[in-house]
Amino acid sequence: MDATRVLSGKLLWRHEKQFGWTAIEEISSCGKVQAESVSISVVGHQTRAPIMELMEAILGRRSVRDYRTDPVPQETIICLIDAAIHAPSAINQQPWSFSVVRGQPLLDQISHDAKAHMLNVRPTALPAHLYETLGKPDLAHMLNVRPTALPAHLYETLGKPDFHVFYHAPVLIVISAIERGPWIAEDCALAAENLMLAAHGMGLGSCWIGLAQAWLDTPNGKETLGIPDSHVVVAPIIVGVPGTVAPAVPRKAPEVRWID
Ligand SMILES: Cc1cc2nc3c(=O)[nH]c(=O)nc-3n(C[C@H](O)[C@H](O)[C@H](O)COP(=O)(O)O)c2cc1C
Repeated sequence: MDATRVLSGKLLWRHEKQFGWTAIEEISSCGKVQAESVSISVVGHQTRAPIMELMEAILGRRSVRDYRTDPVPQETIICLIDAAIHAPSAINQQPWSFSVVRGQPLLDQISHDAKAHMLNVRPTALPAHLYETLGKPDLAHMLNVRPTALPAHLYETLGKPDFHVFYHAPVLIVISAIERGPWIAEDCALAAENLMLAAHGMGLGSCWIGLAQAWLDTPNGKETLGIPDSHVVVAPIIVGVPGTVAPAVPRKAPEVRWID
């Protein structure tokens, strides 16, 4: 039997037996994205912005680490999630779910807990001669299970009391997969990139915060955000109005093989 339900103020979803839940574009606040321009509400005022050229958006997106305190309107966040769920996914599983955190005290607490967690789970390296021994053919597999440490300067940063993993951004969107599966990381990462590009197109900054992922994926982290235990946290993304413009990060020349 078909059914409809409103998941938010703007998005109406229709359920059809054959296709499952689908967004009905006509009333989606983001449905006009394919048109020449899109009405975007950022920081409470409505602007009519031309849609960015796709390559301009891809090349111009930056990881933003300085934010204004202005809140991001709910309809804007809904647009970002709408962009995210239009990412491709393996076997069309669409395994993503989204948790939107907006309270600054909670964001401060998560930042604090995530930092402490990363410092606590810091892997202890074995003495170098043990890795040498493990390099012998019959023990080589042990080298592959060696825990990977972060670069030393990151532990230094994590130890600073005033370092905020979310850079005081007003919004954190956590993308988690609803269950384990072979391609959930890829699927959620594609959703994350769509979300970050859409944010950039709307004049917002964003940044993937890998440093918060491990703690958010703990039972404690999931409980804090009401994320079911069966979920896998993949991508914590901060969003907000940028303060200073982030400089472009140079790219290494890509290694490309042409096989004709
Ligand atoms: C999986 C992943 C994890 C990341 N984690 C962090 C992080 O914890 N903190 C941070 O400031 N930036 C983080 N970044 C952002 C990268 O540092 C950034 O993408 C890279 O330096 C290139 O800069 P750009 O995004 O401005 O092009 C992360 C990016 C990815 C893809």
